[in-house]
Amino acid sequence: MKKRRLGATDLEVTPIGLGTWQFSNGTGLIGGFWRSLVEGESEAVVKAALESGINWFDTAEIYGKGNSERALAKALSAAGAKPGSFRIATKWWPLLRRASNIGKSIEERLSCLSPWPIDLYQIHQPFSLSSVPAQVDAMADLVAAGKIRAVGVSNFSARSMEVAHSALARRGIPLATNQVRISLVDRSVERNGLLEASRRLGVTLIAYSPLAQGLLSGRFHEEPESVAAVSTGRRVYGGIGDKTIRRTAALVGELGRVAAAHGVSRSQVALNWVINFWGEGVVAIPGASRPEQAKAAAGAMGFELESGELASLDRLSREAAASK
Ligand SMILES: NC(=O)c1ccc[n+]([C@@H]2O[C@H](COP(=O)([O-])OP(=O)(O)OC[C@H]3O[C@@H](n4cnc5c(N)ncnc54)[C@H](OP(=O)(O)O)[C@@H]3O)[C@@H](O)[C@H]2O)c1
Repeated sequence: MKKRRLGATDLEVTPIGLGTWQFSNGTGLIGGFWRSLVEGESEAVVKAALESGINWFDTAEIYGKGNSERALAKALSAAGAKPGSFRIATKWWPLLRRASNIGKSIEERLSCLSPWPIDLYQIHQPFSLSSVPAQVDAMADLVAAGKIRAVGVSNFSARSMEVAHSALARRGIPLATNQVRISLVDRSVERNGLLEASRRLGVTLIAYSPLAQGLLSGRFHEEPESVAAVSTGRRVYGGIGDKTIRRTAALVGELGRVAAAHGVSRSQVALNWVINFWGEGVVAIPGASRPEQAKAAAGAMGFELESGELASLDRLSREAAASK
């Protein structure tokens, strides 16, 4: 599948990238969502992603206080990745911090990711102590200093995204991306103005949790008892439970029917739908804790859904949302 540019930047990425929150090693505020990977697992996941054609990786400071960044950097080196052949997106954590922290903490981010550069630096959440213009101005300083290549935001509303876009434009820098939750069971971008604003401004939307944290693979529908093994954080955040399983049963059934017709899995159909339904302005970063999952994620770029299939998934996903 053709690469896509992130906003108006020169960064070209595959429509599917790899999310690496899963490399947090159980540490920090949200690291406990996922089981800790054992020695060599993150290396195997990254190697599988690269070998299957994925050319970019998303991480963040908050994912295990730098654990994910360090594991990603180490895995890229172990895989013999060639400089310039892949892209790294990471994020600054704004909670209880001012914009001045962006310039102060960049060396730590670069050190965690060493020897690899930061291609896209994102403001993780819209709740810093400083204004949006002050934050993106600090980001623009990093671009000018050659410490990062492009600027993105995450979890920003349409209004905050517009403010970030205009403030960066004053510095001659495009706002590349806004990373938000998007999947067949979360289509809020259609209602909250983000889809419309991102198209108008030329900002790429990066879909996080595109598998609804594994729900859309259908594995919890097949084995509802396996929900008990999932962390409480993930169950609450991802809404993984009996009610959601019932609500999404028809949708997951249709994912299975479409998957069988293409000789792929339900997860692959769910990802393919996200990167195609709204066109080239949406790319996705599924997470993986096993190499097979990274390979499957890349495989989601290898087939085409027919218009009738896109439409039936569209209808059932709306019905699942309506019965919430
Ligand atoms: N900006 C933000 O605020 C934000 C928020 C959330 C996530 N993110 C980013 O987005 C990435 C992805 O989101 P996410 O991790 O929340 O959710 P996700 O991608 O929807 O789900 C990932 C999980 O789904 C399961 N899975 C993946 N492939 C599978 C397959 N082929 N078959 C069955 N199960 C499969 C795995 O669960 P198991 O590990 O249990 O097998 C995997 O850990 C994160 O890694 C992170 O980089 C960003």
